[in-house]
Amino acid sequence: MPALTIDMTCLTSSGIGEEGLSESELQDVAPRAAVAVQETRKAHAEGKVGFFEAPRARDVASRVLEYARRLPPEIENFVVLGIGGSSLGGRALYTALAKPLDPLHARSKGMPRRLFFPDNVDPCTFHALLKLCPPENTVFNVVTKSGSTVETAAQLLIVLDRLSRALGEQRVRKHLVVTTDPDKGPLRRVVRDMGLESFEVPSNIGGRFSVLTPVGLLPAAAAGLDVHGILDGASAMARRVADETSVFRNPALLLASALYLHDQRRGRNIHVLMPYADGLYDAAEWFRQLWAESLGKARDLKGNTVHVGPTPVAARGATDQHSQVQLFMEGPDDKVILFLTVKERGLEVQIPRGVLGEYDDFAYLGGHGLGELLDAERKGTQLALTREGRPTATITLERQDAIALGELLMLFQAATAFAGSLYGVDPYDQPGVEEGKRLAFGLIGRKGHEAYAEAASQVMKALGDPRFIL
Ligand code: PA5
Repeated sequence: MPALTIDMTCLTSSGIGEEGLSESELQDVAPRAAVAVQETRKAHAEGKVGFFEAPRARDVASRVLEYARRLPPEIENFVVLGIGGSSLGGRALYTALAKPLDPLHARSKGMPRRLFFPDNVDPCTFHALLKLCPPENTVFNVVTKSGSTVETAAQLLIVLDRLSRALGEQRVRKHLVVTTDPDKGPLRRVVRDMGLESFEVPSNIGGRFSVLTPVGLLPAAAAGLDVHGILDGASAMARRVADETSVFRNPALLLASALYLHDQRRGRNIHVLMPYADGLYDAAEWFRQLWAESLGKARDLKGNTVHVGPTPVAARGATDQHSQVQLFMEGPDDKVILFLTVKERGLEVQIPRGVLGEYDDFAYLGGHGLGELLDAERKGTQLALTREGRPTATITLERQDAIALGELLMLFQAATAFAGSLYGVDPYDQPGVEEGKRLAFGLIGRKGHEAYAEAASQVMKALGDPRFIL
């Protein structure tokens, strides 16, 4: 029994009439969809890509769990220093499965320690975090595949200095653990030189596809999550989607094809993922990065200039019913809304009967639950969108547990890889980000980037004096 189902009826004409995709549109794309599966398999067979295989690496699971078991009880904080794909997956697992209400103040009930994913280099946040996490009670997990990402490097230097001042050089090693490329990159050299404990990001798995490697699994283990359950779920989904070439039988392929068709044929290039469960909002942010960075490309695989890519949006139900849903309903018909929900929440908060019972405007709520209300709001929103002919789909997790999360993450990774093939782009690179990174290195004076410093100053010169600073 899958722990996740996806209802895509309302993406098609069966659900929303002619605004939806017709059977013949889906039939048209079917051969290219089959090729997308074959290409993804080929990239795996040639060892260029490895995300489907990640959940089979049970030795990695054993290692991260063994590391977490060795963490002494005084380690109350586990801080992940990474950004983008080196942070979002771990955070998605943590917030979905550890269910922290406010990680800045409390450890989740029953969890061995609290996790932080500062991600950004905002000095105000980082300063506050360092104050909250005394060196003797904290392990810092430095996560960077390239080993040279500027934000992570800056955080590492601050933390290294702080740890060695507070604890002395000898004890630093017990408070640092590194996750990086097995061989390449400057951080691997630091690991060797300092004798630091480390984990590997397989060289054929890029940042945003790395949640099921130590990038996501080490934080998961440190938080006491069910690492094997996550991998079981991911493996189960990989079995469903990795080889099935029929668009009508493969959920990841149908999702990718439907979103691709809505974008390319119907002009619906904004793809919203809207969880109706607070713990899944970070999974929506993880998906946003995966979809954006993988599919937004200037050139196709043949080198033609194409400038393609749907714009992903993360929204939160029911909160954003009071924010974005007005736009989704009545604004431009350029969106597809993917709802994400949980069938068995495992907890309900009852609304008492009889309180303000004499007022009809309140009495109707008595005897219902907050989860029930959330579900009714999601269904109501979907039905309203359906009546307007706006395409939607609903992903339902049986429970918000490790298996379902593993399935969800693998579903989206596979859909992204297949969509890359449909768009004709390389979903695994990010040349546009690299350029900005190099210019930033130039601006901050990194050795070897003098040409970028020069290029940056040329661009600034060309801009001339600012004319519209008001
Ligand atoms: O998905 C990606 O490849 C990126 O988002 C990276 O994860 C991000 O830029 C961080 O890179 P690194 O892990 O090399 O520090």
